Amino acid sequence: TWTMAGFRELEIARIRKQVGDGRVICGLSGGVDSSVAAKLIHDAIGDQLTCIFVDPGILRSGEADEVVKTFRGRFNIRLVHRDASDLFLSELAGVKDPEIKRKTIGRLFIEVFEEEAAKLGGAQFLAQGTLYPDVIESVSFTGGPSVTIKSHHNVGGLPDRMNMQLVEPLRELFKDEVRELGRELGIPEHIVGRHPFPGPGLAIRIPGEIDKEKLDLLRKVDAIYLEEIRNAGLYDAIWQAFAVLLPVRTVGVMGDGRTYDQACALRAVTSTDGMTAEVYPFDFAFLNRVAGRIVNEVRGVNRVTYDITSKPPGTIEWE
Ligand code: XMP
Repeated sequence: TWTMAGFRELEIARIRKQVGDGRVICGLSGGVDSSVAAKLIHDAIGDQLTCIFVDPGILRSGEADEVVKTFRGRFNIRLVHRDASDLFLSELAGVKDPEIKRKTIGRLFIEVFEEEAAKLGGAQFLAQGTLYPDVIESVSFTGGPSVTIKSHHNVGGLPDRMNMQLVEPLRELFKDEVRELGRELGIPEHIVGRHPFPGPGLAIRIPGEIDKEKLDLLRKVDAIYLEEIRNAGLYDAIWQAFAVLLPVRTVGVMGDGRTYDQACALRAVTSTDGMTAEVYPFDFAFLNRVAGRIVNEVRGVNRVTYDITSKPPGTIEWE
């Protein structure tokens, strides 16, 4: 019978056979897929693996530290941590269009990754946490609809340019199986059970132009929202939950004074694959509590709305 423990052993043997005594590099994003791929490959070949974590400055609060702590500290994996936030933010300055944001971010990830890989003296193998649905999707693109709604950059690009052989130990698995494998490998639950997070990160959760100040504001709002969701025991019932910082200022009142601050939107959806989604039906007391905390604790935000749009006709992200 097929078990996850059996799959792990089989894949470890396969990786050892493919790699021999070669060197492997793996891009870590902090997400489930690259985390599981990295840990599995490390279990197979130890220090022949080096991970590269490019911090684009558009991650959520505390995420970059957590990646470093978990992979370098706890798992003892060789890890290059490149803080590229200044580069990303300066290249994104003045960019308003969502697709140009995506293309800029995708290009920078590749450039910085290549730079760091070159500093390591290169490697014969590139590891990726490609899943079965990614494989299917990238194949079906050619025969699929001719309208691109949002251009994702998870698959492709890198391998062609870098002339390396791919190591893709997850390419037969679905998301729930990757999570199960992650647990089998001893990866902490808060990484394994994490909601999907888009490559362009918080940059597509601030409609229009982004800057450091807006990102910091959004990180505070998002952290409160997620903390309340976790405390209420709702995290695992939700596919994705996040805050959006709106490019709108509204009038409010605080104490005796008038405020003229930014509005934010909260989003939470259920879904099985991200292709369609339904709004998560929080009870009103929960939303009320979160909104109260946000306007009281985050200076600069004075209004909170809840997005109740389904997909379709909406999309999960705002951009
Ligand atoms: P939408 O907004 O298209 O999102 O309903 C569907 C799923 O895809 C994620 N998403 C992205 N992931 N790069 C990514 O890696 C992207 O550019 C991107 N845009 C959306 C979104 O978070 C949701 O899970």
